[in-house]
Amino acid sequence: MFETSSGFVAMFLFLFLSNHVLFSPVSLPSRLNNNDISTLEAVGVFKTLSQLKKINLSNNKITEIEDGVFEGAGSVNELHLTANQLDSVRSGMFKGLEGLRMLMLRNNKISCIHNNSFTGLYNVRLLSLYDNQLTTITPGAFDTLQTLSTLNLLANSFNCDCRLAWLGDWLRSRKIVTGNPRCQRPAFLKEIPLQDVALPDFRCEEGELRSTHTLQHTMFFLFAVYCPFI
Ligand SMILES: *[C@@H]1O[C@H](CO)[C@@H](O)[C@H](O)[C@H]1NC(C)=O
Ligand SMILES: *[C@@H]1O[C@H](CO)[C@@H](O)[C@H](O)[C@H]1NC(C)=O
Repeated sequence: MFETSSGFVAMFLFLFLSNHVLFSPVSLPSRLNNNDISTLEAVGVFKTLSQLKKINLSNNKITEIEDGVFEGAGSVNELHLTANQLDSVRSGMFKGLEGLRMLMLRNNKISCIHNNSFTGLYNVRLLSLYDNQLTTITPGAFDTLQTLSTLNLLANSFNCDCRLAWLGDWLRSRKIVTGNPRCQRPAFLKEIPLQDVALPDFRCEEGELRSTHTLQHTMFFLFAVYCPFI
């Protein structure tokens, strides 16, 4: 649902283009949650809605958000994308949301969080990545979220190898994480809270590292497409 500061609910027409939704200044759905939207296309609709406070796109089938779709939505405080099918996030998707304080990405299929996922979101206090498919997060992924005070990483499938060693420390020192996100792999760390894992236990086998390297080399193109900027 679109709500402006005065509580006014914008009532416009819905324009469907197959299963894509095209937002244009003359046509805007009055309710965006509980639809079958799969792709958000950038047409600049938010430039005309400068008082918008909340965008609720929960319970759709969103797999892709085009860069710049939210441009002009600088007054929006909350973006709800709960229960969709996003498998990655990049900062371009959120471009224009400088005023965002709450970003709900709960219940998606996000597997990659990297250094460029959230750049530009300087005011986000609450970020929920609850119930996604995160296996690893690059160190520095949350560095640009300077005012982050609550981070939910529960219900993910973290692979607690050497690449995640930084996160145990980070969770202990930042104290902004809800509950205790747990490792799923390797087997000997299954269900152990990340922040309780001793540093030497976040390990990569020699061979494992080498093969990861080769794999990354061989599959560079695929990785680049699936998880850009990593
Ligand atoms: C967003 O929409 C969903 C689905 O209709 C609803 O369950 C949820 O309460 C809404 N969230 C907010 C913050 O408005
Ligand atoms: C991500 O940021 C961290 C911390 O600033 C840095 O150490 C790391 O090299 C960066 N990674 C990439 C891939 O840029």
